[in-house]
Amino acid sequence: MHQAPTSTQAMLFGTAVRPDQLVHEGPLLSAIRHCDILVPEYHGHWSAVEWRRGDPWFGNYDEIAQFAANHGQSVRGHSLIWEQMTPDWARREMQVKQDWRLVERHFANLLHRYRGRIDEWIVVNEMIDTENGDGFMRRTSFQRAFGNDYVAHALRTARKHDPDARLMINEYGLCADNPVDEARRVALLRHVEQLKKADVPLDMVGIQGHLELAKGAVPQARLSRFFQDLADMNVKLALTEVDVLEDDLSLSLRERDAKVADAVASLLDVAKQQPAMTSVTTWGLSDRHSWLQQRSESTQNAVERSPINEAQINRGLPFDSAMRTKQMMHTLAYDLSNSRISSLRTL
Ligand code: XIL
Repeated sequence: MHQAPTSTQAMLFGTAVRPDQLVHEGPLLSAIRHCDILVPEYHGHWSAVEWRRGDPWFGNYDEIAQFAANHGQSVRGHSLIWEQMTPDWARREMQVKQDWRLVERHFANLLHRYRGRIDEWIVVNEMIDTENGDGFMRRTSFQRAFGNDYVAHALRTARKHDPDARLMINEYGLCADNPVDEARRVALLRHVEQLKKADVPLDMVGIQGHLELAKGAVPQARLSRFFQDLADMNVKLALTEVDVLEDDLSLSLRERDAKVADAVASLLDVAKQQPAMTSVTTWGLSDRHSWLQQRSESTQNAVERSPINEAQINRGLPFDSAMRTKQMMHTLAYDLSNSRISSLRTL
C-alpha cells in the first residue's frame, strides 16, 4: 500500500472526451461531469478542424467547450501542432512555401474563437525524437520548413493571439526506466532550458503518462528529480494522458487491476510530492473507449464484440467497460485531494 498524501496540494483531475460521449445520459456522462478538466481526445487537432483549406469547422470543438462551460469545467486545447494530425494540404503547402503565415492563420482561428473559454493550450505535441531526430527534434513538416526553432515560433505566435492562455508542450516516453526514456528526459530538459533562456513563453510541460507494465516499475527517484529539474526552470507540470498498457491478460481480473493500480499509484506518489504539478488527466475513463485497445488486434476484437469479453480487453483506465469502478479509480481518488474526484469513487 502506498502512503497517505503528505501534502495538502489539490491537483485537478481531467479526462479526454469525445463529443458523442457528452450526449447520452448514463454513468459515463455522470463521471465526465465530475472532472475538472476536459481534453478533446481527437477532435481538437488541425486535421480534425480544417481538413479542407480555408474552411474550418468547429462543431465538435464547440460541443466540448460548451459542455465544459455548462458544468464549470475547464478545457485544455489539444493540440495546435501535432505532425500526426496535420492535414495533408498543410504539409504540402509548408513544403513548397515555408510560409509561417499558414501556421499563424491556423493558430489565430482557434485561439481567437476560444479566447477566455480554453485557458490552457498544448501548442506543440510530441516534438522530441532522440533516435532519428535532428538535434533530438522530430523531423516533421514544421521542423523541415522552419527549422528546430519552429517550437519557439509556435509558442510566441500562440502568446500573441491569446496573451492570457497557459501555453504547454506535451511529450510521451518519459516515465520508464530504460535508456530510450532516459535520453528523452534529458533531451526535453535541454530543450526547455533553451526555450526559457531565450525568453520564449512556455508556461507548462505536459508529461503524457502512458504507462506500459512490460517496461517495469516506474523509476520513482529518477522521475522525482526530473520533475524537480523542470520545476526549477519555472514551468508548471501536468500528467496529461495517464493510462496503462497491461502485459499479462492471463491473470485474474483482480490481479490485473491491482497491477494497473499499483503502476498508477507509483506515478502519482511522485507527482503529488511535486508542488509544480497542477493536474492529472487520464486518457479516457472507461476501458470500452480506450485507444489502447487498438494496440493489438485481439483487444480490438474483444472490445468490438457484444457482450464485451472483459478478460480479453486491456484494463488500463479507471472504469471497466460497463463503468464499474476499478482499483485504479480508488487510487486516483485517494491520491488527489480533490472533492470532485473523490465523489467519483462512489458512482
Ligand atoms: C490518440 C487518440 O486516443 C486516438 O483516438 C487517435 O486515433 C490517435 O490519438 N498521444 C497523444 C494523443 O497526444 O492525442 C493520442 O490520442 C495518444 C498519444
